[in-house]
Amino acid sequence: MSKIRILPENLANQIAAGEVVERPASVVKEFVENSIDAGAGRIRVEVEGGGSRLIRVIDDGSGMDQDDMLLCLERHATSKLWNAEQLAAINTLGFRGEAIPSIASVSRLTITSRLVDAPLGNRAEVRFGQLHKVHEMGCGPGTIMEVHDLFGNVPARRKFLKTTRTELSHIDEIVINSALAYPAIGFTCAVDNKEVLSFAAGCESLEWRVREIMAPHLKKNLIPVEGREGEMALSGFLLPPDEGAAPAARLKIFVNRRPVRDRVISHAVAEGMHNFLMKGRKPGGAVFLALDPRLVDVNVHPTKQEIRFRDSQHVHRMVVYAVGRAMENYQNEVRFSLFGRPEKSEKQPFSGLAASSPATPRRRDTPDSLSVPAVKLFVETTRPSVPVNAPAVLTVAEPPPPGVHPPPSQAMDAEDKSVQPEKTTGRRLRYVGQFFQSYLLCETDGGIAVIDQHAAHERLLFEKLKNQYHDMRLPGRSLLFPEIIECTPAQIEVLTAHAEEIRRLGVNIQEFGGQSYAVKAVPAILGHLGPLEIINGIFDCFLNREGKEKVTARRIDDILALMACKAAVKANDPLLPQEGEELVRRMEEAGIFSHCPHGRPVVKFFSEADIKKWFFR
Ligand SMILES: Nc1ncnc2c1ncn2[C@@H]1O[C@H](COP(=O)(O)OP(=O)(O)O)[C@@H](O)[C@H]1O
Ligand SMILES: [Mg+2]
Repeated sequence: MSKIRILPENLANQIAAGEVVERPASVVKEFVENSIDAGAGRIRVEVEGGGSRLIRVIDDGSGMDQDDMLLCLERHATSKLWNAEQLAAINTLGFRGEAIPSIASVSRLTITSRLVDAPLGNRAEVRFGQLHKVHEMGCGPGTIMEVHDLFGNVPARRKFLKTTRTELSHIDEIVINSALAYPAIGFTCAVDNKEVLSFAAGCESLEWRVREIMAPHLKKNLIPVEGREGEMALSGFLLPPDEGAAPAARLKIFVNRRPVRDRVISHAVAEGMHNFLMKGRKPGGAVFLALDPRLVDVNVHPTKQEIRFRDSQHVHRMVVYAVGRAMENYQNEVRFSLFGRPEKSEKQPFSGLAASSPATPRRRDTPDSLSVPAVKLFVETTRPSVPVNAPAVLTVAEPPPPGVHPPPSQAMDAEDKSVQPEKTTGRRLRYVGQFFQSYLLCETDGGIAVIDQHAAHERLLFEKLKNQYHDMRLPGRSLLFPEIIECTPAQIEVLTAHAEEIRRLGVNIQEFGGQSYAVKAVPAILGHLGPLEIINGIFDCFLNREGKEKVTARRIDDILALMACKAAVKANDPLLPQEGEELVRRMEEAGIFSHCPHGRPVVKFFSEADIKKWFFR
């Protein structure tokens, strides 16, 4: 006799439930998704006992007639898919037709549903997989799905549930994600008869929803993200970079409106914001990628939270670029709020599309000032006439003796003054003075700004160094006496693999026999440091294990940031009034000025209204 047997239907359903129904929140997810697929305008979730006792999802969607109600209890019964071609291009949230039978097999399920134009509805009761009762009954249009006693017949599963609080937080997350993905639908969630979440129906604005959910107390604008490339479109709203810390505000990613965990997109968003995010800080907000369903596989896992892109590099590039543009607009908005808008340029509403060309007051070189996609930096920047292999070693004025920090004015004088600022109208930052020998106090028409002098100067130098690096004209300073250093094998590997980059940094280092190398020139801007310190700093940036996956371009950024940091005025450096003024003036001209290269904010603004409030005026 054959040993193989077809499993009884109910057992097969229970096994499927093992994958689909992990916890109460999974049930909520499946039901809410079904309600959305059914075209609901309002969805209400009710939970008792952390979801183990009761989960009820009520919608005003299309409803089902009695035949469909019975059919949906069968495995692989779905109204959303007929053939294999459709599987490759799914545009509903459900499609497997296994949620309802799976849930029904591990709970007591009641379905009450009425088609909009039917006079009566129906109710079906299923107890742990067995259909118990079906009957007609009077009810409102739409569907009510009720689950009692979840995992009542699988005690092992029940034992694995976490505390009520944890289970509720998972349910919360489901409702919130759905509310973000479907801003036009109204959602409420009640726990033990108490309403805990409520998002009104008919709010078509995603911005509103994002703000309502992620940053209800935020006074600043959210940062709109828009991007399009071929069939692929990105939209969403990011929190201003200094705000995104709260767990509720952590970046949420949706692909074709489905909440997903995706490293490609989350990495790309962080990359697009990298100029503005402090180490360890994560972006906040919600982004939505819409693309041809054939370009993404959502069928990787039954819960559909993981996805796979056909061309993940393409997606990554597009997202980095769109977020980069959004941040550029954000930067301009900060600029306008401090320095006024450029003359003649139309008032640029911040809610405008990031993709539209922003009224940039002055940018030296767009691809350089904002290192958006790392690849673009190197490939698309139009090269100046300097040949690629030209030695970057030039000599500048006599450096200060070792150990002496260059006076700030000198460091600043070394900067490029060739760009004439456009005139701005309205507000203008007026330098008032330095305090604590570390901060600059400025007054504008709308309030006061406090600037961190080190962070501000660091960013300016960084932008300048980056431009110079990419233009192959980062000046080096020849050493009178070459410094001989001993290198480790790893360091020697760096010297070989990155010889070109290191030369472009203004360093001239040559073999001196064995493990020894002679440092003959160092970046001019670091003339006040010892060669060993400089070279070790460069080695560290290349060999740093922390960002193992970092591309070379980003490592060069690290080096340039380090150089900017070492060369910038420090906290506790007294500044002359002209120096303070000059720093502020240059901020106005810079492509990016609001955050230091390590993402620390440079400026804090206090509006006149805020200040009046302090004094009850
Ligand atoms: N709230 C609802 N309103 C209307 N129809 C529903 C609802 N929930 C489920 N259905 C119907 O039941 C079918 C089976 O649901 P389900 O088991 O979740 O599979 P899937 O969503 O993958 O199709 C759906 O295809 C749909 O036709
Ligand atoms: Mg479904």
